Amino acid sequence: MDMLKVDIRKVYEFVPKADIYDLSAKAVNSAGALEKKTGKGNDFLGWVKLPSSITEDEIKKIEASAQKIRQQKIDAVVVIGIGGSYLGTRAVAEALSHSFLPMLKDRKDPLILYAGQNIGEDYLTELLEILNTINYAIVVISKSGTTTEPAIAFRILKNHLEGRVGKAAAKDLIIAITDANRGALRTAVKTEKYDNYIIPDDVGGRYSVLTPVGLVPLAIAGFNIREFIKGAAHMEKACASSVPFEKNPACIYAAARNMLYRSGRKIEILANFENKLHYLAEWWKQLYGESEGKKNRGIFPASVDFSADLHSMGQYIQQGERDIFETVLSVERVNNELRIPEDRDNLDELNYIAGRRIDEVNKQAELGTMLAHFDGNVPNIRIEIPELNAYYMGQLMYFFEKACGISGYLMGVNPFDQPGVEDYKTNMFALLDKPGFEKQSKAIKARIKSLNEEQN
Ligand code: PA5
Repeated sequence: MDMLKVDIRKVYEFVPKADIYDLSAKAVNSAGALEKKTGKGNDFLGWVKLPSSITEDEIKKIEASAQKIRQQKIDAVVVIGIGGSYLGTRAVAEALSHSFLPMLKDRKDPLILYAGQNIGEDYLTELLEILNTINYAIVVISKSGTTTEPAIAFRILKNHLEGRVGKAAAKDLIIAITDANRGALRTAVKTEKYDNYIIPDDVGGRYSVLTPVGLVPLAIAGFNIREFIKGAAHMEKACASSVPFEKNPACIYAAARNMLYRSGRKIEILANFENKLHYLAEWWKQLYGESEGKKNRGIFPASVDFSADLHSMGQYIQQGERDIFETVLSVERVNNELRIPEDRDNLDELNYIAGRRIDEVNKQAELGTMLAHFDGNVPNIRIEIPELNAYYMGQLMYFFEKACGISGYLMGVNPFDQPGVEDYKTNMFALLDKPGFEKQSKAIKARIKSLNEEQN
């Protein structure tokens, strides 16, 4: 099997190769600390060996649940979750789906729809409008089981589903994925007896795509979870601390981006030339942003879809502030073949590329862009996968996870907590008068009053 490749040669002009290799021992040691659970956040390292430790029985159980739901002739499955409880699923599903899936007449797999990732009243109303017209199932995912956004969405959709098919039938159309013991969702599982899965205690949301969090909805939607796990398992081996630095993609990527950061490159832009990877970038932003952005440190993860963003963000990347570097995600072979036709009139003056494949043009756009940005003083890291399929998505996502853990350790932070996420929640609960937040309610309301008075 071919493996994902990382190329950092276009970094050396900005950070000498020797400096990056100076970090090699620390990077490999960090990989070892993740495997031996001796580093920071070591109670959240269950994801490190997930790909190789998942059992045939676990996979069969997930496939059986998926089959049971699919047999009920559903048009869609609504995944309710936020952050790590939904982005991994979306990243894989969007990468591997037909670009116009909802319009495909002979579609045999259910669509995935999403809820609970925002609190948009219009979004939920419009979703209900659609759900009034189709058959659907729900997979509700929350590790804590108490996150407000998915809890609101679940309350609404559960009522809706029960209203449509009755309480008893609705039970067979709901799967809950949550903590083994804690949280309101676990209580609902116990009371309502939903089919359910446990999110392991030692796997945080953003590292959970290889648990039932990602595997259950993906299996329902017809994706090949066995290939996905296999790709991740191969990458687990390739990124192990026993693999020397120069052959270890996760260590190389982690060391290069850390050295770039230390040299003043504070923003990493993940660029794709295959727009099906848009949500992979959303998942990556959460993974790196939530893992590294703490203690006033961290590379700010941004993303662009090319060519579209070459005509918007391209200008900034070429000539704006030089505190950025670019990581290009490249897919070597596309799944289809389409050539540019010859045109007798040639009014568009494109005959010079007639007969050539669209992907050849895309690849030249990629090469030309990389060289232009490099010439504009933007360091470039290139990550290449051979094809966009379940196997290579498994490789890619595990690679990013392992590299993120290593990179966080090199940066001196705990990559497995997210204390900063609580602050907005406390304010929101205080503003909504949630019981237990009386003191905070009083304080925040007084603060708002004085802000308003200052403005008047
Ligand atoms: O990575 C994380 O831990 C977070 O992004 C969570 O996934 C997110 O906050 C959702 O939490 P929960 O699954 O508890 O609802």
